[in-house]
Amino acid sequence: MTAPPTAPPATADDEREPEVRAKAGDPFDRDVLPTPPRATSALLRSLLAPMKARVALTSFLLLLQQAAVQAGPLLVAYAIDSAVPAFRDDRHGPLIAVGVTYLLCSVASGGLQYAFVRASARVNQDVLLDLRGRIFRHAQALSVDFHERYTSGRLISRSTTDVESLRELLNEGLQELITVILSFVYISAMLLWLDLGLGAVAVASFLPLYLLVRNYRRRAGRVYTLRSTAIAAVIVKFVETMNGIRPVRAFRREAANDAEFAVLNKRHERTNGDALLEMARYVVGSRLVANTAVALIVLWGAYRVAGGSLELGVLAAAVLYLRRLYDPIDRLGMFLNSYQSAAASLEKIAGLLAQTPSVPEPVAPRELPPLESEHPGREVVFDGVRFGYRTGGEILPRFDLSLPAGQTVAVVGSTGAGKSTLAKLLARFYDPTAGRVLLDGVDLRDLSVPELRRGVVMVTQEAFLFSGTVADNIAIGRPDASREEIERAAKAIGAHEFISALPDGYDTDVRKRGGRISAGQRQLVAFARALLADPAVLILDEATSSLDIPGERAVQRAMSTVLHGRTAVVIAHRLSTVEIADRVLVMEHGRIVEDGPPAELIAGTGRFADLHRAWRDSLA
Ligand SMILES: Nc1ncnc2c1ncn2[C@@H]1O[C@H](COP(=O)(O)OP(=O)(O)O)[C@@H](O)[C@H]1O
Ligand SMILES: [Mg+2]
Repeated sequence: MTAPPTAPPATADDEREPEVRAKAGDPFDRDVLPTPPRATSALLRSLLAPMKARVALTSFLLLLQQAAVQAGPLLVAYAIDSAVPAFRDDRHGPLIAVGVTYLLCSVASGGLQYAFVRASARVNQDVLLDLRGRIFRHAQALSVDFHERYTSGRLISRSTTDVESLRELLNEGLQELITVILSFVYISAMLLWLDLGLGAVAVASFLPLYLLVRNYRRRAGRVYTLRSTAIAAVIVKFVETMNGIRPVRAFRREAANDAEFAVLNKRHERTNGDALLEMARYVVGSRLVANTAVALIVLWGAYRVAGGSLELGVLAAAVLYLRRLYDPIDRLGMFLNSYQSAAASLEKIAGLLAQTPSVPEPVAPRELPPLESEHPGREVVFDGVRFGYRTGGEILPRFDLSLPAGQTVAVVGSTGAGKSTLAKLLARFYDPTAGRVLLDGVDLRDLSVPELRRGVVMVTQEAFLFSGTVADNIAIGRPDASREEIERAAKAIGAHEFISALPDGYDTDVRKRGGRISAGQRQLVAFARALLADPAVLILDEATSSLDIPGERAVQRAMSTVLHGRTAVVIAHRLSTVEIADRVLVMEHGRIVEDGPPAELIAGTGRFADLHRAWRDSLA
């Protein structure tokens, strides 16, 4: 027996999509989506706004802590110049006081540091929690058309590496920055107060340091943007390859993929190296400036101590302060690093969050009118619909169609005719560019999301299963369904037998060992899910393509009961499906070229009659 010819040879959607995505000039090819000006700083503000009080508190803790830390050298100066001479004169009080104060300052600084780390960790955790939640909710709310263009690898890289780099900035970077600024202010004030001349030399060294920092910032900024784009490319390639592991195997793409991955990986490594090099230049430069300043001050100070115009204790304190002054400059570089990568990441996240769904929820949602008969079907009308995908030309040029409630319509036509596009418009994955799609007279754009989901359900050949049990997967159609209802739906569709044979029956986890089920069985689960959802309009887009012929027959028998009374659009993979239809539409190039009851079309001389004759012959 020869297999019946498949009416339209099906192509997997995923094979076409990379080409579509790669169209030149698509902003989605870049990592940073077009972002409104200042979206990044607005995002940062909106993240921190709810925690203003806590941010202020943590900053205050740091201020106190720095005061305690920077008291040290001053106490040393006092000890050398006053307390020790007093001790020699048998007055022990001052030295004891200095020792006790020093100890208290150390304890206080430790305690304050602890309080600060705790408080700031809480703030940071809340900010990151909020941000990850926002990315997830927003990405989920964006329309199908967004996800077709923005790869899942990019989304993963947004919510992992990009959030992570913000975490680094918040956890370490900001503390570094505030510490550096505070110690600069405290220490310069102290030095100037201790000795105007020495202080002035120290302050003068700030100018070359500032120039170094500015230069580093500019150069590192470029390097960091390149680096974060490079790491995102690595992740995207990784995710894409693993998602498509079956075609990779089937077409022996491994070697080519290895080579492509090696290039991306190498590019990432190189950008990393560049970043380290910039950092090294900065560190060397800043140390040179710092050491020169210290050498000058020690020389000049020693000369003055010898001449009697400067006290030894003051010089000791000045040198101690200088060490503390220049130490954090390396750390300032670290801060700039984390700042640069966080800024680059935040910009990408802001770009993602600035995307608006192209299929928005209605501002004033309308309800569907109550059903008149006991049948669940509703009338469907395509009223002057025109549609084209964003990345291509017009697919449906002015499309009019009216399906009375309860009718079962089979749609046939060659691959690329626009059948799936029709289905997706009816399920409101996209909105038409002109015209309206009406469900019982209500524009789909005016229906609330729950109302639309109850109204129209689509089953495709993908038949995706979520992690969880088989029962969970069927219950997605109606989360409040009882186990009995779930089983009834499975029985109606002929899935009960294979489900019962699984290790844990309906409680088998579909992602665990033994829970692996075939593509055909997945489709049966998807049918049961749709049946349980009990929609007014059911769309089947080549939904039986993974079933064998007996399996398809069984589903078809079940379908004729399931579809009874409902409005159904069945995009037919094999012509046998057409037998349960009241009406057949033949589509070509986005237009209906034949429309009528199956018997009438078969008896005629049109395209469908030819197709049907060829099919009959092949069965004989
Ligand atoms: N997501 C998409 N983005 C851009 N073009 C698409 C997309 N999906 C389908 N197309 C194009 O729309 C046309 C109709 O496709 P489709 O409706 O899937 O046809 P059918 O289901 O009849 O095989 C084809 O030319 C196809 O390349
Ligand atoms: Mg299709």
